[in-house]
Amino acid sequence: MNILKQIYCRSFQLVFRLAIPILPYRDPKEMASVDEVPHLLKKLGRNSVLLVTDKPLREAKVTERLEKVLKEAGIRCAVFDSVEPNPTIKNVEAARKVYIKNNCKALIGFGGGSSIDCAKAVGARLAYPKRSIGQMKGILKIWRRIPPLIAIPTTAGTGSEVTVASIITDSEKKHKYCLNSFPLIPKYNVLDPRVTFTLPPSLTATTGMDALTHAVEAYIGGSTTRKTRALAREAVKLIFENIETAYKDGKNYDARNNMLHASNRAGLAFSMSYVGYIHAVAHSLGGQYGIAHGLANAVLLPILLEDYGECVYKKLSELAECAGIAKEDATDKENAEAFIKSIREMNKRMGIPEKLKGIKEEDIPVMADHADKEGNPLYPVPKLMDAKELERLYYLVSDRDEV
Ligand SMILES: NC(=O)c1ccc[n+]([C@@H]2O[C@H](COP(=O)([O-])OP(=O)(O)OC[C@H]3O[C@@H](n4cnc5c(N)ncnc54)[C@H](O)[C@@H]3O)[C@@H](O)[C@H]2O)c1
Ligand SMILES: [Fe+2]
Repeated sequence: MNILKQIYCRSFQLVFRLAIPILPYRDPKEMASVDEVPHLLKKLGRNSVLLVTDKPLREAKVTERLEKVLKEAGIRCAVFDSVEPNPTIKNVEAARKVYIKNNCKALIGFGGGSSIDCAKAVGARLAYPKRSIGQMKGILKIWRRIPPLIAIPTTAGTGSEVTVASIITDSEKKHKYCLNSFPLIPKYNVLDPRVTFTLPPSLTATTGMDALTHAVEAYIGGSTTRKTRALAREAVKLIFENIETAYKDGKNYDARNNMLHASNRAGLAFSMSYVGYIHAVAHSLGGQYGIAHGLANAVLLPILLEDYGECVYKKLSELAECAGIAKEDATDKENAEAFIKSIREMNKRMGIPEKLKGIKEEDIPVMADHADKEGNPLYPVPKLMDAKELERLYYLVSDRDEV
């Protein structure tokens, strides 16, 4: 990246870092069971709600308990269950219609990041009926209050239940982008491990690695605070201790609970300290090919950490300590390498591939351009890269036989 753009990026990031204490971050009110939702809605005086979720979750009856307790409490519950993984503008518009038709007064995002992000975007469209989703992309475009939103994550995960972000795909332009605005932080969330019991092993693995990527990218970036560093360290420790148990034994309450809390802590950390190029590249792959977000991150994480090299040794060595794999007499470089190696080994044990299939050489410049626009100047990454330099990462992550 040329020096002028570097100065611009670092100055932009500095302004946002200095502004952290005055920006309206808030920690949502946390509940521990879906059974508490009706009481909350009654307290808020909302007697009709839109449940935003996806078909597989409904068919697996994961929403059943929530729907039952709402019915018993006399709260009308309209359902939109057509959210797609990598939720689209069309999903948001269709859900908004159901909300209006049923005269709903609150939103529940029930599912992985896709359902929660879709519910957030519905809230944004309700707050700004005359603005399109595309017009609200980017940072600080939304200032009006959205209807009360209760986020119930069923993956662990995106951390969307605490973040400022809603990530939506424009399926026509094959472009996936973020809406980053404070009113999108859900006011309430429910961390109920029972709704994650049905998450299959492969998704447990990839969504868990997404959470690890949040913690790592937030920690190695240049805009951390004491609070976000502590949150990221806690998340790394919990993920290393619990992900493989949750992967092997999906109904293990403690492992699921710890993973939900890890993902939540990582979400809080990156909401303030941002993610980095791993996410920017993963989003471009999601927009272009629909590659699942967690899978893209899981594969990219060790590759990019290795590529960053020396500038991340110290921070990764600290994370290696949290993960319980650092050696006292080892150098930062050795501990950082051990950290990266153990991510690779965890991926392998959980059936995550080393590279991604299906990346076409002719699509790389456009994807790199999207990643550049997402990452620069916002993400306080350890090493800046422009679109041309980012192109290299797509080759690194591609299955060599294909590109
Ligand atoms: N808003 C944010 O801060 C943020 C952060 C990171 C990622 N994201 C976005 O979140 C999306 C990915 O979310 P995700 O990884 O949680 O997956 P997802 O919501 O796309 O769900 C993936 C699949 O898992 C299934 N599933 C989810 N929970 C289940 C359960 N308990 N049992 C059985 N099946 C279950 C879903 O039905 C779906 O088929 C992406 O669009 C990504 O960009 C958002
Ligand atoms: Fe993510």
